Amino acid sequence: MEILEKEGELTDGVRYVFWTFGGTVPGSFIRTRVGDEIEFHLQNHPDNKLPHNIDLHAVTGPGGGAESSFVAPGHEKVFSFKTLNPGLYVYHCATAPVGMHIANGMYGLILVEPDGGLPLVDREYYIMQGDFYTKGANGERGLQPFDMQKAVDEKADYVVFNGNVGALTGDNAITAKVGETVRLFVGNGGPGLVSSFHVIGEIFDKVHVEGGDLINENVQTTMIPAGGAAIVEFHVNVPGTFILVDHSIFRAFNKGALGMLKVEGEENENIYTGEQYDGIYLPEGPGIQEMPTTDGVVESEIPAQNFEEQMKFGKQIYMQTCFACHQAEGQGIPNAFPPLAKSDYLNADVNRAIGIVLNGKTGEITVNGQKYNNVMTRQMLSSEESANVLTYVYNS
Ligand code: CU
Repeated sequence: MEILEKEGELTDGVRYVFWTFGGTVPGSFIRTRVGDEIEFHLQNHPDNKLPHNIDLHAVTGPGGGAESSFVAPGHEKVFSFKTLNPGLYVYHCATAPVGMHIANGMYGLILVEPDGGLPLVDREYYIMQGDFYTKGANGERGLQPFDMQKAVDEKADYVVFNGNVGALTGDNAITAKVGETVRLFVGNGGPGLVSSFHVIGEIFDKVHVEGGDLINENVQTTMIPAGGAAIVEFHVNVPGTFILVDHSIFRAFNKGALGMLKVEGEENENIYTGEQYDGIYLPEGPGIQEMPTTDGVVESEIPAQNFEEQMKFGKQIYMQTCFACHQAEGQGIPNAFPPLAKSDYLNADVNRAIGIVLNGKTGEITVNGQKYNNVMTRQMLSSEESANVLTYVYNS
């Protein structure tokens, strides 16, 4: 295995110098069988700046091989070991400062299959979480150096699957077909954070807990320690995009710990129907919309003095009251809230419009040829405010 120190991208526009086993983060997947005798060659590329080594958690021996494999740039080390215990194991660099070598991407997985091998499945994928600490904040562009203090404090700027934000999304998503069984070899390089690994919309039929022999069934979220792993298996029953996350959820949506499994195939409505109904829900009944009253609404003591003031005050009310549904330019929201701008319905009848502002409106209407069926609640506006906002709507 060759160690390469190389610049790459952590996310769009954010460069980082990764230290790698085999040129990738995580490092190359190593697949063995229990009882194998392995002669391990570790090469440190001559262009690298630092010595490195490897500690394989599958190795029984001092440092998991670290002591025997410490290698300077331009050198190669060899040691041998026998795999005694089946399981899924992390390997990582263990050269001081150890945390920094791991934080820069020096980790991967070694699988030791049991006698006879793991049962066959349709698809296998290799996923490894890691946390990154940069001098700049999340998203700050340019080449970002490692930040030792943030790493010590475990305040990660990025938490990612497979070495960068988006390594498993969009065109890089992992895939399967309906009816297949998927096996994920999931590891956590850390260096600092424990992963709560979850696939949104799937249940793990089997989890090899912590990568060992213990099999748990019907699991929603499995804990993956820093420096640990799990084997996760599930059958895919319905098509769609299933999101892989660390369920410490800000890591997923704000720091990058998000991947995708895209499943193609036939729908199965016995298992999942998709949306069946979207309607109006009125917890207090529809009657409340019909009450023509402005009781309790106080008239302004300083009413608008002229058209300009009516427009100004009306715009303020519009931005507070109408904007969320009818939008900034009165364009509305397709299929939900009708437009006010160039609205044939509005322009046809001013008195009806005044009535709607005062009393609300429920039920189907047709605006510019489009049907809308929604609820506009009675607006708690004084008669002067209603006049101002309608002046604004009709004249802007
Ligand atoms: Cu190293």
